[in-house]
Amino acid sequence: MEKQTAVSGIQASGKLHIGNYIGAIKQFVELQDKYKMFAFVADLHAITVPQDPQELRKNTLDAAAIYLACELDPKKATLFIQSHIQEHVELGWILNTMTPLGELERMTQFKEKKESQGQKQGVHAGLLNYPTLMAADILIYRPDTVPVGEDQLQHLELTRTLARKFNSRFGETFKEPRALLKKEGAKIMGLDDPSKKMSKSSLNPNNYIELLDQEAEIRRKIQIAVTDSGKEIKFNPEEKPAVSNLLTIFSLMSGKEIKTLEKEYGGKNYAEFKKDLGNLLIEKLTPIQIAYKKIIKDEKKLLKILADGAKSARAIAQETMKEVKTKIGLL
Ligand code: AMP
Ligand code: TRP
Repeated sequence: MEKQTAVSGIQASGKLHIGNYIGAIKQFVELQDKYKMFAFVADLHAITVPQDPQELRKNTLDAAAIYLACELDPKKATLFIQSHIQEHVELGWILNTMTPLGELERMTQFKEKKESQGQKQGVHAGLLNYPTLMAADILIYRPDTVPVGEDQLQHLELTRTLARKFNSRFGETFKEPRALLKKEGAKIMGLDDPSKKMSKSSLNPNNYIELLDQEAEIRRKIQIAVTDSGKEIKFNPEEKPAVSNLLTIFSLMSGKEIKTLEKEYGGKNYAEFKKDLGNLLIEKLTPIQIAYKKIIKDEKKLLKILADGAKSARAIAQETMKEVKTKIGLL
């Protein structure tokens, strides 16, 4: 049987954190053996809010290096930079012409970013059209699934709607991809506030643990992570949201069941639990950091991997675009 296809991306904005790792990158790596995996760095999405050019360049390379450091294997998966495939933008434009404005205006991510960006730098049309470019990123490879964290589900629903719409107007062209969501870990919460997702746009750096954080920093952030009232280490997201979040992180980083952890830490206090969690994160992140440093040093080699990835991705994207243009009536 032919392999199914999976597509996903991460934005090249700011630093990647353990929420990105648990909710997204870890899944991509697990999928690369079973699926035809397309993984990219969404630099065009990053510029929907103003970016410093030098920082954007560094963040884009960093994200690609982190994919590789987390053992995404360019021999198995296709790794590339979004802006290297101009067909994404071309299809994005076409999808824009089929998307009601109201659908874009009601997107949660748009409303949130509009709120946070609005006061700072103003809101530009790219932010509104973010989801149509994302739909193009996906549909152009006609995937079966899209592994993402929970915050991207609404965008994926729009992607499916657009696929249906295009197909019914112009004939069967796109597949309607399903979201691939982890039962646990699809939404890692902030360490400073377990009612909000861990996010690199948080103003408080103690909200997240970056994949490249130093040992002392990791220990410190876990130590000051908020906990709940009571002493017990129990998984109960309603009554103990902070501890449940830490248990989820512990479980997914160690491979141990939450139930096992609850037993192990029965009768122990938060301090002991946090100390072990800090150690675990250091143990798991250190090899990633060592690999990252090696990869980022050799920029030429990294760019070559990305150019090879773009070449494979482009071949498929061009084929899809040819069909799309013919169907629409573009000469
Ligand atoms: P972004 O960094 O916003 O481009 O997100 C990259 C991927 O990480 C997407 O699949 C997100 O859904 C996922 N992600 C981001 N934040 C979290 C989080 N706090 N918990 C789980 N997954 C997340
Ligand atoms: N919008 C996604 C995020 O912020 C990143 C992204 C861009 C993406 N294009 C995509 C994810 C296509 C999956 C598929 O997380």
